[in-house]
Amino acid sequence: MQGVAYSGIMALRSTTAIVRNIPNVFVEALRLDGSQAVVLEKAKQQFNNYIETLEQCGVKVVSLPSDERFPDCPFVEDVAVVIGARALVTRPGHPSRRGEMTVMREALKSLQKAPQIYEMEDPEAFVDGGDVLFTGREIFVGQSSRTNQKGVQCLAKTFPEFSVTPFPIRSSLHLKSLATMCGDDMIAVGGDQEAAETLKSMKSQAKFKYNYVQLDSNSAANVLLVNDNVFVKPGEEIGHHNYDILKKHVKGRIIDVPFSEFYKVDGCLTCCSVLINQEAVSG
Ligand code: GLY
Repeated sequence: MQGVAYSGIMALRSTTAIVRNIPNVFVEALRLDGSQAVVLEKAKQQFNNYIETLEQCGVKVVSLPSDERFPDCPFVEDVAVVIGARALVTRPGHPSRRGEMTVMREALKSLQKAPQIYEMEDPEAFVDGGDVLFTGREIFVGQSSRTNQKGVQCLAKTFPEFSVTPFPIRSSLHLKSLATMCGDDMIAVGGDQEAAETLKSMKSQAKFKYNYVQLDSNSAANVLLVNDNVFVKPGEEIGHHNYDILKKHVKGRIIDVPFSEFYKVDGCLTCCSVLINQEAVSG
């Protein structure tokens, strides 16, 4: 397999998504706030709808089997960072998640056009993919309880064509818990103190100019850009005023994707898929 040379700018396009089915132990998934119980059947319905919506957007979905040893296994974005023709299989920051990568690695290798697989060789380096925000031009990384400085260095080594800028994340789980791409060169940002500080740092440290859509809830800022479509949680989940702001600013087609059961365990719309552009991988 040969990789492609990057120009340093890459369109955010997806042909394929890897997802992982929900185990029954999903109700015991890690969470910062354990006050709300996950309703398993509802989570499964929401997940099926998420997959169908990806398919409606023309994305081929590869579903991996659930694993009852890993309550958080549907959050596949944490175990692989795929940019163009390269895939970094991560070492997640939480010890309970460190066996989740095995099937992801195999799935990546089995793709029709397999990306070049990179491993995190430094045993002290940790990355959760939820901390990695690729804008199409550069990489922003949350330095959080899950992703450390050595992990940031590993990302920089794996994707040398792109500038890698870390931002401290202290109270949220991941960077993408408070900021995601909602269009080409457009970033949705949440509303708490940490989101405000991250936005300020992004504006001053980004190597490129972006349009920022400011929302007053971090949950609202977690959207999923799938080609010209933007998955957003419905107004009942994120507040109708946030929904209206997204609708006003986002250029793509807005699709409502309910995700309440995932949010109870810090799961966001980006968390449940690894998006891949097979056209960026030469065969
Ligand atoms: N529940 C998502 C995580 O903590 O990794």
